[in-house]
Amino acid sequence: MRQDIQEVLFTEAELNERINELGEQITADYEGKSLIVVGILKGSNIFTSDLVRKINLPLKMDFMAVSSYGNATESTGVVKILKDLDRGIEGEHVLIVEDIVDSGLTLKYLKDILLTRNPASIKVCTLLDKPARRKEDIKPDYLGYEVPDEFIVGYGIDYAEHYRNLPYVGILKREVYEK
Ligand code: IMP
Ligand code: MG
Repeated sequence: MRQDIQEVLFTEAELNERINELGEQITADYEGKSLIVVGILKGSNIFTSDLVRKINLPLKMDFMAVSSYGNATESTGVVKILKDLDRGIEGEHVLIVEDIVDSGLTLKYLKDILLTRNPASIKVCTLLDKPARRKEDIKPDYLGYEVPDEFIVGYGIDYAEHYRNLPYVGILKREVYEK
């Protein structure tokens, strides 16, 4: 798989370090509260699993699955809920965990839906942000790293369902998806 990667952006050790910092920041910000961490499947699965173990607070985990891309590399703007939360979130502090924010369409849509369910608060933590391609005016409350306008894979993030198991985050070679 390494031969399909143009450049490694963040190594396993760097990710570990940054996620530790995010966990500490979240722990401090929500002191005295409990929260529901909502991982967005499938991309944020690995990030969510690592992040919650760095958050020292009472918390529950839940997941949503949405489809936005299919096998293409550009957002269609169509977001469909494939799996909703198992439980209600009324009066709860919700932290949405995303893998990467690109156009922002997915996140805007999700946040709006969850807001209608009257949580006490909603914040967003994303591992990666590609601000160059933003279409919706939405900013993550917690961010791992900004990334360039390239196609990113690894650490849960896929191209056509592959590369999720890379332990690092990297740029996928164009020749892989421009075939
Ligand atoms: P958005 O709706 O355009 O912000 O796209 C958000 C979703 O598209 C993310 O949660 C990812 O699943 C996917 N996505 C965006 N950029 C990339 C990328 O560079 N590589 C892989 N998936 C991406
Ligand atoms: Mg995603």
